[in-house]
Amino acid sequence: MSSLVIVGAQWGDEGKGKITDYLAEKANVVVRYQGGNNAGHTVEVDNEIYKLQLIPSGILYPDKQCIIGNGVVLDPKSFLEEVKALEERGIKTANLRVSDRAHVVFPYHKKIDELSEIRRGSSNLGTTKMGTGSCYADKTERIGIRVCDLLRKDVLAKKLKANLVSKNLYLKNTYDFEGYSYDEMLAEYLNYAEQLKPFVRDTSVLIYNAIKANKKVLFEGAQGTLLDLDFGTYPYVTSSHPTAGGVCIGAGVGPALIGKVVGVAKAYTTMLGKGPFPTELLDETGEYIRTAGKEFGTVTGRPRRCGWFDAVIVKYAVRISGMTGIAVTKLDTLSNIPSIKMCVGYKLGNNIIKNFPASLEDLGECEPIYEEFEGWGDISEIKEYNKLPINLLRYLERIEEICGTSLSIISVGPKRNQTIMIDKF
Ligand code: GDP
Ligand code: IMO
Ligand code: MG
Repeated sequence: MSSLVIVGAQWGDEGKGKITDYLAEKANVVVRYQGGNNAGHTVEVDNEIYKLQLIPSGILYPDKQCIIGNGVVLDPKSFLEEVKALEERGIKTANLRVSDRAHVVFPYHKKIDELSEIRRGSSNLGTTKMGTGSCYADKTERIGIRVCDLLRKDVLAKKLKANLVSKNLYLKNTYDFEGYSYDEMLAEYLNYAEQLKPFVRDTSVLIYNAIKANKKVLFEGAQGTLLDLDFGTYPYVTSSHPTAGGVCIGAGVGPALIGKVVGVAKAYTTMLGKGPFPTELLDETGEYIRTAGKEFGTVTGRPRRCGWFDAVIVKYAVRISGMTGIAVTKLDTLSNIPSIKMCVGYKLGNNIIKNFPASLEDLGECEPIYEEFEGWGDISEIKEYNKLPINLLRYLERIEEICGTSLSIISVGPKRNQTIMIDKF
């Protein structure tokens, strides 16, 4: 089996971009299957830093086919800007393909996302305001406009007219927002359609043919398990399925064609949005990790909430996505901390909780049960697993033991050559 899925095992920003770029060297095809430009995947190569939102993290290799699958919501303006910015830096995008079934983000999606967050006040969800959730809402309401619709002027004109009537009415009545001009938006999106056209394909055919031809296909998840619409900390989640099951629907691939699933987990835990976070550190250690790990949102610049590694969460992620291995990133960020804690279970009242709870009220009352580990010092130049300090090996072995899976990759810095490969791809 030659396909591999990369899934975030926590609340997103685990380093999926770095791991995807690293593994992409041996892949033929790299596919994004959900999310939109709410994602921010950072790839560092030599002294260059690339921040990708919609485009798969395989794009830095000129010979890889990169695919934006049907499960992604595509903001064409953002997509075309990303393409242009890459081309200006000498990165070729000729091998990039976009699904004709992907749903399209319109300005009213972004506006509704923004205004509904303001209206919720202190009960807001903390979204990235990219219109991702509103676009998925239209998809399930069956009024969405897809990439294939954009390419047919008559279809776009008809669907956009119907949508704008109801969206403008809703925006006026609910938020006293004047709304959008149909003629201007139609002209703007017809212009995007022209520029998008060369990228558009039935991408599920491309992926199927690649798998059948024994080519290596990498599926790059955005967000993370605890942001999954079903399995995350609902309602503080995104509106798609970042878990491995999302690949089948978001790329049009049957489950029997999926080989390995690698979860990416940071050596500690971060969260960008709202909701209970059992191991959160609201003290100077949390502040230290945020500074040392540069924990600020790639898309919004917001400071990420930081806490100790939570093995209850990663064990849950391993189960939900059937992870065959995990990649642990940012171990170097903890290098200078003398004593490191890992949460190995929760106490809820008089009970020990081993499985991640559904109720946010329960989660909010969970007290982490910690084990302590001695620090491991500088590891950023180490290239082999066996050369890692014994204290770090103890930490990693405990992660494997509790989470019930083996280590596939260790990351000791943001660059490609700061990666230790344990498993084969
Ligand atoms: P993603 O959304 O999962 O792709 O993660 P982000 O790119 O949002 O955030 C991860 C950040 O950590 C990026 O700035 C990466 O360059 C960086 N990073 C990834 N792996 C490592 C690592 O092992 N060590 C350090 N210090 N930084 C890393
Ligand atoms: P990557 O792929 C971290 C969070 C937002 C918010 C919630 C809902 O870089 O890991 P949305 O805009 O999706 O409706 O926001 O999800 N969120 C992320 N957090 N990393 C991401 O992506 C995220 N994408 C969305 O902060 O809490
Ligand atoms: Mg990110």
